[in-house]
Amino acid sequence: MSPFPQVTVIDHPLVQHKLTLLRDRETSTNGFRRIAREISLLLAYEVTRDLPLETVPIETPLEAMEAPQISGKKLCLVSILRAGNGILDGMLDLVPAARVGHVGLYRDPHTLTPVEYYLKLPDDLAERLVIVVDPMLATGHSAAAAVARLKEEGAAAIRFVCLLAAPEGLRVFHAEHPDVPVFVAAIDRELDSHGYIRPGLGDAGDRLYGTK
Ligand code: URA
Repeated sequence: MSPFPQVTVIDHPLVQHKLTLLRDRETSTNGFRRIAREISLLLAYEVTRDLPLETVPIETPLEAMEAPQISGKKLCLVSILRAGNGILDGMLDLVPAARVGHVGLYRDPHTLTPVEYYLKLPDDLAERLVIVVDPMLATGHSAAAAVARLKEEGAAAIRFVCLLAAPEGLRVFHAEHPDVPVFVAAIDRELDSHGYIRPGLGDAGDRLYGTK
């Protein structure tokens, strides 16, 4: 159960088990990347759970039937660089036909506010269900800025997927975007004075790419 109405905590045992492995400081870069990919596949499963279906006529080897397929909006996954790519890969394993966009934001180390340095999106964003991915919803400022940018570019149906969120960040994010549901593996205790989620898993980008 989530204490935040627009937030779904994915409490599946496999997700929680893999999250523990990600949090563990002893997990190697290689292991972290592999587990992030596995857990993302499970998050993708949950965030797409209510996609509408329609039936289409097909023929099995034995007879004709009306079989379900996903209808309506196609998907666009948007990764917030660079750590979002660690989630993107696992999601693409499950929905390989999805289009992909990238938003480059870095946190100014002094103000902790986001600065945009890259944006590449498909043209038909307005016709797609947009799933934004970033492992850590910490202060909420990067997430809120990325989603605001996507709305400016026409995105109308947006969901946000992350591994960990801080309560403070969720409040900031939903104050600006109450229409965007968040799917998360766990809501942690708090943000520290450096903008890290506690207990957290450290710097997701560094742990994915071995840069520290
Ligand atoms: N970004 C991270 O990678 N980790 C945190 O704890 C907060 C923001």
